[in-house]
Formats: sequence, structure tokens, C-alpha cells
Amino acid sequence: MRKAFVVGHPIAHSRSPLIHGYWLASHGLEGRYERIDLPPQNFPAFLRDFPDQGYVGGNVTIPHKEAALAGIDHASDRARRLGAVNTLWLEDGKLYGDNTDITGFLANLDALCPADWAERAGAAVVLGAGGAARAVVAGLAERGLGCIHVVNRSLDKAASLTALAPDQVRAHPLDNLAALLPEAGLIVNTTSLGMAGQPALKIDLAPCRADAIVSDIVYTPLETPLLAQARARGLLAVDGLGMLLHQAVPGFARWFGVTPEVTQGLRDHVCADLLAGKGKPA
Ligand code: ATR
Repeated sequence: MRKAFVVGHPIAHSRSPLIHGYWLASHGLEGRYERIDLPPQNFPAFLRDFPDQGYVGGNVTIPHKEAALAGIDHASDRARRLGAVNTLWLEDGKLYGDNTDITGFLANLDALCPADWAERAGAAVVLGAGGAARAVVAGLAERGLGCIHVVNRSLDKAASLTALAPDQVRAHPLDNLAALLPEAGLIVNTTSLGMAGQPALKIDLAPCRADAIVSDIVYTPLETPLLAQARARGLLAVDGLGMLLHQAVPGFARWFGVTPEVTQGLRDHVCADLLAGKGKPA
């Protein structure tokens, strides 16, 4: 029986077992997907030993994503660009790693927005400059957006993202936000603001284009104050759960040999867990 894992510290809040468990059951596969909680000092040994423990691969989450990149034999271009690995697998006895957050972010927009969303958007505003912002910015750069404005509380962190695509990415302090909104066809929140237990993101969508798409990485709650404001204004609102579901697809395909689909049934399954308040916001 094939076994995969999600390794992190802490890991109890991870919804990945729910996603992969759903796909294993719906495809009638015998595999398993297990949570592993490991402190950073134990991660390098795990990276060497997991094949001997019967695992074919797995997901890597905080705080091990950078160490995973450093410890594998082959990293994908995207993993190297982001400096982080979230998906591991074995191939010909070698350890491979990818970062599927870019795929997850783009596939979710592709599924929920008009087919030409990237061309129509032209410019985007990305709020935040952490790890999630890197994936979003890299994805938007791949899709050829002419201008990607990274708006962040700490300007130096925003500036560090310009290296991802120097011709396309611009760094701004939060004060510039209102002036940038009329230009942007896509607005993405990658900060933790709006998450349950956190203050709401302070933003007034009044200056936005009528065709603007508003997306949030946060999915606890599913409807953040940002998305509620977008919907109230008649803008297309894209919640953060879809990115989580889509980023899981490539790993499952590698480990279990079947490319799964992100269906309404899967969404309902994970939503039921979110609504039951099981685990912590993730
Ligand atoms: P992740 O890796 O999940 O993206 P992170 O690296 O902790 O998370 O990044 C969190 C982002 O939210 C950062 O851009 C952070 O801004 P700073 O770079 O200035 O720290 C942003 N953020 C968090 N709390 C914030 C707050 N109260 N106001 C404004 N921005 C905030």
C-alpha cells in the first residue's frame, strides 16, 4: 500500500489529510496519507529516511519548506524560484521536489474566472510579501501580467519580491494602495489580515474597476471581510480554499498514480470541517 505524508511543526491544523483522504476514498485506492509532526532538528534525518519508512513522498509545510529545498536531489524551477518545496517524491531512487502553490493559485483562478482573466486584468495588486505572496507574484508573472504591484507594511520585504520578475513587479508601502486600485484588474490578499482572530484588512474597494477580481488566500473564514465587501460591490470574489485544494492535485498524482479533480464534493467535504471549527485556522 502506498503511503504519503504531510510533515510540519505544528501539523494538527493541516487540512491536507482531509483532501487526500477524500480522493483516496473516491478513487477506491488503498493508500494512506499521514500527518507527521517533526521539529526542525529532526527534519534532515527524516528527509533521508522516509523511503525506508515506506513513504513514496509527501507534502512539506512550515517550518520545513526551505530545508526541503536544500536537502533534495532535484528541485523544479518553480521551487528554486520560490526558495521553498512543498511537495516531495521519489524517482529512480532520487529525491525530487516541487512547489505547487503557483499551480494551485493559477488553477483556482482558471476554474472560477473568465478564461482570459490574466489579459483582462493587465495589472494586479498583491497585498503582503511573505511566502504566499511569492507564489502569487511568480504565478502572475508567468501569466504575463504587465504590472504586479506588491503592497506591504514593510517596504523592504515588498522590494525583495521584485527579483522574481524585475520588469513586472513594483514594490509599494501600504499608503499607495488607494492610488493603485483603479488600475488593477486583480486584487489578492496574501496577508493574514481577515483570518479568524485577526483584524480585518483595511481597504476600501470603492476605487476598483467594475470588472476587478478580488481574491483572498485566507480561507478561515471562507468569506473574509474583504470578499464580503467585494461581493457587496458586485465584484467577482475568489476565496482561498480553492488554492489549497488545487495545490494538492500534483502531489496526489505523483504518489498514487491518479490525477484527481477539485470537485464540489471535495469542497463540501473540507467546508464541513471548516464550519465544524475542527483544528485551528491554517
Ligand atoms: P506567509 O508566508 O504565510 O505569506 P508571512 O511570511 O508571515 O506569511 O507574511 C505575512 C504577511 O502579512 C506579511 O506581508 C506581513 O507584513 P510585513 O512584511 O510588514 O510583516 C503581513 N501582515 C501581517 N500582519 C499585518 C498587519 N497587522 N498589518 C499589515 N500587514 C500585516
